[in-house]
Amino acid sequence: MNAPVDINAWLAEQERKELLRFITCGSVDDGKSTLIGRLLYDTKQIFDDQLSALEADSKRHGTQGEGIDFALLVDGLSAEREQGITIDVAYRFFASDKRKFIVADTPGHEQYTRNMVTGASTADLAVLLVDSRKGVLTQTRRHSYLAKLIGIRHFVLAVTKMDLVDFDQAAFDAIVADYRTFADEIGIRDWVGIPVSGLGGDNIGERSVRTPWYDGPSLLEHLNIVPLDAAADAEKPLRMPVQWVNRPNLSFRGFTGQIASGSVTRSQDIRVLPSGRTTRIERIVTADGDLETAVAGQSVTLTFSHEVDCSRGDVIAAADSPPEVADQFEATIVWMDEHEMLPGRGYWLKLGTQMVTATVHHPKYEINVNTLEHLAAKTLELNSIGIAEIATDREVVFEPYAVERGSPNRALGGFILIDKLTNATVAAGMLHFALRRAMNIHRQPLEVSRETHAGLKGQKPAVLWFTGLSGSGKSTIANLVEKRLAARGRHTFLLDGDNVRHGLNRDLGFTEADRIENIRRVGEVARLMADAGLIVLTAFISPFRAEREMVRKMLPEGEFIEVFVDTPLAEAEKRDPKGLYAKARLGEIKNFTGIDSPYEAPDDAEIVIDTLTMSADEAADRIVEELLKRR
Ligand code: ADX
Repeated sequence: MNAPVDINAWLAEQERKELLRFITCGSVDDGKSTLIGRLLYDTKQIFDDQLSALEADSKRHGTQGEGIDFALLVDGLSAEREQGITIDVAYRFFASDKRKFIVADTPGHEQYTRNMVTGASTADLAVLLVDSRKGVLTQTRRHSYLAKLIGIRHFVLAVTKMDLVDFDQAAFDAIVADYRTFADEIGIRDWVGIPVSGLGGDNIGERSVRTPWYDGPSLLEHLNIVPLDAAADAEKPLRMPVQWVNRPNLSFRGFTGQIASGSVTRSQDIRVLPSGRTTRIERIVTADGDLETAVAGQSVTLTFSHEVDCSRGDVIAAADSPPEVADQFEATIVWMDEHEMLPGRGYWLKLGTQMVTATVHHPKYEINVNTLEHLAAKTLELNSIGIAEIATDREVVFEPYAVERGSPNRALGGFILIDKLTNATVAAGMLHFALRRAMNIHRQPLEVSRETHAGLKGQKPAVLWFTGLSGSGKSTIANLVEKRLAARGRHTFLLDGDNVRHGLNRDLGFTEADRIENIRRVGEVARLMADAGLIVLTAFISPFRAEREMVRKMLPEGEFIEVFVDTPLAEAEKRDPKGLYAKARLGEIKNFTGIDSPYEAPDDAEIVIDTLTMSADEAADRIVEELLKRR
């Protein structure tokens, strides 16, 4: 920028542009700072004085390559420069012709989950850096998982340092394929892989001639066009947490806040939560005069046509679709304090403008962010993430954090926990749902009976309930049985522990309580499927007799067929198909069935399969025969 800048004109121009916030994830070694430096440079956001300081610095650091070391531009803190690592969240601003950007640069080291979550909490997109020579690493997965957890939808896989692999297409393709497998697994749908080199600026600002095989956008092009969530946010029902009550004199009473989602129009009917009282909007006041309509993101003062009680912390909402009010929740919690979480202790819970006292129960489980495994946990320590129930001392207005469309419900679904003594923020969290909603649910009589469903399928429903140790062969045999039944034209469905635990039951771990809940839910699903006329096969360890009997009792007489896949522990451990017994013996997996968690073998199962004397195929034949005999 050599021409003198008219700062006011420049600001006015930026004001008009759409804003995209993103984070970069990766370590210094991945070329992160260089990449951000390039973005700033290519969009001409570097001012002359910064440039000359930089060149002087580059000389001092003896940087090689094409002149300026862009890493130095971003690593703002001198301590960081000296150590060569980035240690906190740094925010940068830059703009293209179309959009303006705020980038949060977060460190890549495991102990900095806290920073990553902070940086991600307002971002729309995450740029994941992967060194072209190293490929997708555990940290890439961890960053993806955390970003997804925080509600980021759009991802860029920036494969960096392409110059060091001679811009080799095969190297890039392999990394993209590898990431695709992982992205599918955790449900990241919107992502693009871009081959870049920070050093030469390849595919950062403009497309590079050195990657003729790549026909996608440059990083900046992509950032310019990736869809923003704002449109979807404006279509949601109105939510405005009240920040303060504006009462300059007796004739004016207005409620000020930022519209979190939806829009508000003059004369609209609204409801104040948690009281539930309704009134109508009279005026929408802003510093620039009254508005007819205001949308998500705008800060406004609302006045009511007739007064109802409304104070700081209340939420103004669309009258016909208000948010929920509750005092018990399930939530994801990211622990950010040196002192571990203390279940039962009262913390301040800040949810938007609401502040209440909350106690956290023992976690249901902790998530290993490297492997995505669920671990049993008694508490949460620094940088750990868990699922737990929370109780508040009074009702709060909330919405589930995760949403199908638009941005996550940060204002009414994202919270922080504050230590009452030290005032330190000890955790951040996301509300899933309220507990105890069953009181409002009534049973609906069904017009099409289970007999009709079964009749249409020309079969008698059944639940083949496989039970046995991990690695006993339940899934293998159940699969074979299902194939045989399908070949005979039977309508079947197989519910398998490992699959159900990725979806319906992904909030459950392996404590006694969680296994009980696992089986309860699976039992309910199996029952519904039997009602639909299906022959259901389930493959769960289902270690406790009581829960297997509970499911048996849910079904009509004779429809529950228990199949005990009898493989002795020593044999299952010898096979160890997933290597889990080995880990359990090393203490890496807790509560492992047969090792440090019990298995109660059935004593009156309808079918017993001895896998020491029978092959899986023989077992399947035998089960099919038994089933058909009973029909
Ligand atoms: S159940 O006990 O609740 O019925 P389920 O069948 O759903 O268990 O899940 C068992 C599968 O989860 C095992 O086959 C194994 O792959 C995996 N797993 C992970 N941790 C454990 C554990 N601690 N105990 C048993 N299985 C585990």
